[in-house]
Amino acid sequence: MLVTSNITTDVIIAISTIAIIIYFYVKHQYSYWKRLGVPQLKPTFPLGNYPFTLPKGLQIGAYTRRYYEAFKKLGAPYGGVYIGLTPTLVITDADVAKTILVNDFNNFTDRNMYSSKHQPVSVNLLSQTGKEWKAARAKFTSLFTTAKLRSFINFAATCKQDLVAYLDEFADGKKDVAIRRVTGLYVADVTTMILFGFHAHNFKSENKEINSFGRAVFESFTPLYQLKLLLTHCYPKLARFLGVGNVNKEVEDFGNVYIPNAVEYRIKNNIRGIDFLQLLIDAKKAGVELTMDEMVSQSFIFAAGGLETSASTSMVMLYELAKHKECQTKVREEIYRIREKYEGKTTYDSLMEHTYLQQVLNEVLRIYPFVTNLYRICVQDYNIPGRDLVIEKGTPLLIPLVGFHRDPDYFPEPLKFDPSRFDDKNDKQKGYLPFGAGPRNCVAARLGMIQSNLTVVAVIENYEISLSPKTPDTLEMCENSFTLSFKNEIFLNFKKIQN
Ligand code: HEM
Repeated sequence: MLVTSNITTDVIIAISTIAIIIYFYVKHQYSYWKRLGVPQLKPTFPLGNYPFTLPKGLQIGAYTRRYYEAFKKLGAPYGGVYIGLTPTLVITDADVAKTILVNDFNNFTDRNMYSSKHQPVSVNLLSQTGKEWKAARAKFTSLFTTAKLRSFINFAATCKQDLVAYLDEFADGKKDVAIRRVTGLYVADVTTMILFGFHAHNFKSENKEINSFGRAVFESFTPLYQLKLLLTHCYPKLARFLGVGNVNKEVEDFGNVYIPNAVEYRIKNNIRGIDFLQLLIDAKKAGVELTMDEMVSQSFIFAAGGLETSASTSMVMLYELAKHKECQTKVREEIYRIREKYEGKTTYDSLMEHTYLQQVLNEVLRIYPFVTNLYRICVQDYNIPGRDLVIEKGTPLLIPLVGFHRDPDYFPEPLKFDPSRFDDKNDKQKGYLPFGAGPRNCVAARLGMIQSNLTVVAVIENYEISLSPKTPDTLEMCENSFTLSFKNEIFLNFKKIQN
């Protein structure tokens, strides 16, 4: 039915009306925090405050420290931003963060991580919600008991020989080494054993699939993939409706082929392992409902979580030790002392005695938290104790770890590498959350620490390391990745120690 007698005029009226409705809707939406009396950053339609540029893209990752700094400047314990059109609360006070993550966890049980039924691999422990998450978490926590961790350490000892043989080829001034590659190959060896029960010998055969897997999860950011991620972040409902996935194809294909084959092979040949895959197979045999899609998606998140986190953390530990020779000597002396006590064996108990090494790890995770943000979603209306604000059900929350960890209010001279901050095993400092906190913290924090420390022990025990002239004195963070990554490649020189 025409409003006027002219169709062109009618079309113009219709378009203008829609534009005006959108304008007022967006204006209303973008004043959400203001209406609640919460300071907010100025949003721009359609991305709100989400950072994005092509071709390389900015990601929400380390960028969020800018949100943090803006609200801290105002002295606010929290502030509002908009991701797309969605109002998101950024927490800048360590006590408020702790209350949300730990004390009042029941109001924040879920993480606003995108998943889509069109891409089953994306439905995993990281993204699951409610009862589904609780059941999965209970199942997988049992993989990281002290008894299991003890057997995993034997795997790491097996893989050490390959690492040393590889580094010998570069040592004593022959060539400098891109250290990320070394820690990546070693952690890939150990992780493959833990998850799938076999020694991949990545240093020798470069098991291309496993080896490229970790990096592909975090770094294969082509412009098209960036655009997909942008949509899943800013407009998740639309992304789900369009069937957009947030796991890149290379990674998805790996999981879909590799894991079902491995499960089938074990069942057919009646082979048992002490590994993650066995846990899944046993659970299924014991009657736990577990589809192949679930097996693939949970293995995916454990492989993704296990590989890149520890590889990157141990890389930075080695970088800082190469820079701070006095710390390196202290770590080495500790290694030798404990090695003697345990007659050359690396065991769970011996590793737990490396208290100075643990301080180095704590300090590295403070300055360079690999997971840059914690994410939660409010699942029932919640009044922050002692504050005026009621967080509405459905509101996403963002806790910027890089912001907290580099805040001089919590850590004086925050960019100074100083392991003595963590004397007396004190890693319970205010604002220090490298593995998150509360019931939804990192399920494998102890394994992550063990893998990182073992990698460093294997290197420092056998080599004196120093920075190559190619390596800069300060590491610059990249802002085009969700997790912490650097603009510079780190090269180190190795000098063999005759043990
Ligand atoms: C240095 C190593 C690691 C660091 C720094 C790290 C950090 C984190 C952080 C900050 C979270 C979010 C916690 C929260 O929201 O409160 C997390 C969650 C998670 N991590 Fe780790 N992680 C590491 C190693 C690992 C390893 C080795 C695995 C697996 C083998 C793993 C698997 C996971 C999983 C599955 C979750 C989701 C847990 C849940 O929602 O229930 N992480 N990690």
